[in-house]
Amino acid sequence: MAAYPHTFLWGASTSPHQIEGNNINSDWWAREGLMPGMEPSGDADDSYHRYREDMQLLADAGLNAYRFGIEWARIEPRPGEFSNAELAHYRRMIDTALELGLKPVVTLHHFSNPRWFAEEGGWLSPAATDRFIAYVTRATEVLHGVEWVITINEPNMMAMMVMLQESMRNGQLSQWQSPTVEGESDRDRIAASLPVPTAEFAAPFIDAHHAVRDIIRQRAGAQVGWSIANGAFYSTPENSTKLAEVRFLWEDIYLEASSDDDFVGVQAYSAQEVDANGLVPHPEHPENTAVGSAYRPDALGTALRHSAEVTGLPTLVTENSIATTDDARRIEYTTAALEGLEAAIADGVDVRGYLHWSLLDNYEWGHWGPTFGLIAVDRTTFVRTPKPSLHWLGKVAQSRGQNA
Ligand code: BGC
Repeated sequence: MAAYPHTFLWGASTSPHQIEGNNINSDWWAREGLMPGMEPSGDADDSYHRYREDMQLLADAGLNAYRFGIEWARIEPRPGEFSNAELAHYRRMIDTALELGLKPVVTLHHFSNPRWFAEEGGWLSPAATDRFIAYVTRATEVLHGVEWVITINEPNMMAMMVMLQESMRNGQLSQWQSPTVEGESDRDRIAASLPVPTAEFAAPFIDAHHAVRDIIRQRAGAQVGWSIANGAFYSTPENSTKLAEVRFLWEDIYLEASSDDDFVGVQAYSAQEVDANGLVPHPEHPENTAVGSAYRPDALGTALRHSAEVTGLPTLVTENSIATTDDARRIEYTTAALEGLEAAIADGVDVRGYLHWSLLDNYEWGHWGPTFGLIAVDRTTFVRTPKPSLHWLGKVAQSRGQNA
């Protein structure tokens, strides 16, 4: 068995919009009311008020880290108007995590934007980086004692979402497509067919990430990185040139932009083939997950190795899991994923922690159906019911060594 460093983080991840509820000043909230086929997030899991209970369950299970986010739309509900009360709310969350023995891993942007930011042009506006700098600068006021900060979650998925929005604006797409649920999503076809290079959509995120990195280091003293969706892409030898091309646009452009970061967040769920035409959509298969992706727990090992190789940085698994209603399947998937992680460590990959997605069943970006949580949540009473997988992961953490 691989030797885990004694400081290894064992925990779970969430994002604000997916669990807090009533994120009314965000662009997602606005979108949910307008787009056909989208379920609203509503009260979500009401974790905005129940975060202590959520963290307590995580700590009681024997885990030592919690990744959660600060919601920009709450901190800056109008341009230049910052809420001290909301900053204090997130400080209380950080203090609660520390009090419970959980290392906070804090994300500053996870898919959702303030509504006003989206209305002024969002990430394609020339003002985007300055707007992000202003928000992050205020957010750092409450980040003391936080060792791990993620600037932007999945800039590659964000770039894809901006691309989808542009496609809707110019009529290439008529209906809302969930960014994370396959089958109903045209994302692969669009990525392959759009005339605009994906690199243009990557640029604003890379620019914003670079602009805030030193602000966070200097003002909060934290290690800074971002978390990148890794597709664990593969091909036959004759398609290796296409594989390199697809990899570059989907992930390497972001991995290469991380080279001056302190770590890289690795997010892996499934693996996907690239053929001569590009990404091959996952075929229908009885083992496919509840979001339509292939059952590929080996994706984590591949993703860790590739991320480490391209960036040369320490890695932190910031998301990994499976959408399923069968908790035994979740345990089976995670067991195999951890085998891949351990093999990577044994081969010299520097892995600093494993944060499972997700602590709670939550709002899957337009849908409530696919569940990723270690804890089920009754969305009327908000009663939390830990699943066997939560205790299982806690036992794994305890038995394989953890934070001293
Ligand atoms: C995102 C999460 C999402 C998860 C499962 C990642 O793309 O960061 O917000 O819920 O995948 O689809």
